[in-house]
Amino acid sequence: MNSKLSEIHNKLQSKVFEVLRDATDSINTDAYLIGGYVRDIFLQRQSKDIDVVCVGSGITLAETVKNMLGRRAKLSVFKNFGTAHIDYLDIDIEFVGARKESYSRNSRKPIVENGTLEDDISRRDFTINTLAVKLNREGFGTLIDHFGGLYDIDNLIIRTPLDPDITFNDDPLRMFRAIRFASQLGFFIEPETFDAIERNRKRIEIVSAERIVDELNKIIMSPRPSIGFELLEQTGLLEIILPELTALKGIETKEGIGHKDNFTHTLKVLDNLAKTSDNLWLRWAAVFHDIGKPRSKRFDHKSGWTFHSHEYTGMKMLKGIFIRLKFTLGDRLKYVETLVALHMRPTVLSDDEVTDSAVRRLLFEAGDTIDDLMLLCEADITSKNPEKVKHFLNNFKIVRIKLKEIEEKDRLRNFQPPIDGLQIMEIFSLPPGRIIGDLKTAIKDAILDGIIPNEYDAAHKFLLMIAKEKGLLH
Ligand code: CTP
Repeated sequence: MNSKLSEIHNKLQSKVFEVLRDATDSINTDAYLIGGYVRDIFLQRQSKDIDVVCVGSGITLAETVKNMLGRRAKLSVFKNFGTAHIDYLDIDIEFVGARKESYSRNSRKPIVENGTLEDDISRRDFTINTLAVKLNREGFGTLIDHFGGLYDIDNLIIRTPLDPDITFNDDPLRMFRAIRFASQLGFFIEPETFDAIERNRKRIEIVSAERIVDELNKIIMSPRPSIGFELLEQTGLLEIILPELTALKGIETKEGIGHKDNFTHTLKVLDNLAKTSDNLWLRWAAVFHDIGKPRSKRFDHKSGWTFHSHEYTGMKMLKGIFIRLKFTLGDRLKYVETLVALHMRPTVLSDDEVTDSAVRRLLFEAGDTIDDLMLLCEADITSKNPEKVKHFLNNFKIVRIKLKEIEEKDRLRNFQPPIDGLQIMEIFSLPPGRIIGDLKTAIKDAILDGIIPNEYDAAHKFLLMIAKEKGLLH
């Protein structure tokens, strides 16, 4: 306990906390440091967001603090919500008056009924977020722990301070937050809290997609995102927000032949990728890479289970999901679509002999996503057979070497054929029409197949030759 107190004490040695202390005393009120900032002191995590609860007007305290900090502090006041915010150097300080009712930063309804510190902390989400540290000079740095938050931090427990049905009813997003904290911090959700999530899961429908996605992104960015996705699945939340993923669950067996559980596989791929990349959208591509499988699944007693073209089926499902989750479309959608559509290509390629022409085509289609695609494909190897894993990884190494060679030689990334449609029309004095497209494709294929180099003169000569064959020139 003493070491804990000295951790708080060390953390409070800064100008900001001195100002908070003096401002609190100068307006004759009580104020406390609360929430994530206190929790993160004990978790040894860096936190720049300071939350302050004031028993009285949070806005008045914020105005006083702003005056003491001077010009470099930027104050924003949200009268309707009784909150205020100060931006000071790289620190964010949020002020709120202690409330009787639920605290929810994003809640649309203004909640203003004043309460005591105890009222306020009891309506917060989890015990680990209810720890408060006194900011007044008298008792400066004293830790207040009404709900056993410190015990729960030490024992890695996510638990609501009140009956979980009340806490989740106050703000259903907290069901996602519980799972997000479990995934992010490697904590466990206490059974009663877990059961309440399952019981109240339908209430998530009243929460905006943006707030849910914010939590999902944090789950995806956690060190082992599978923890969060497993919990989302077990509580029934995943079925509501991403039924395309729960559809991947299960193993069907016919004539004694089963296929792998594609849900477990997807989570393994995501965990693998979390070790090699912190690109959020690449991780989303891992989440979605096999969503086309349930619709493409077939059984044939000669070849067993097949999932032909699941990558294209999956790619086509993405736009609908992006719209539903209110993701921005445009380049981001295009990026995930490219990764999902091409995720089988390097594998197929490395299965056969790796020909220059196949590598050129892959490079042409993947463009700038090629490096991320290779990371996804490497993460996609989840076989338990070490021989197989070695074989694939080795072949991917060869693919990578070839990709580098060919790119250096042919500059094919984001390649545009050296002669475009307009030039073809000019050369042959032709109007727009199908033949122009055919000639363009012929040039592109010749370059990708290595028949001609990626250069104007060679392309022009080749164009004249095929034009002659097609009877356009005599
Ligand atoms: N809080 C809550 N219910 C919510 C959101 C927030 O009770 N739905 C409370 C918690 O006490 C939380 C504090 O408000 O600690 C601040 O919220 P926020 O900044 O969103 O979360 P942090 O706990 O600081 O964690 P993180 O920054 O990782 O989101």
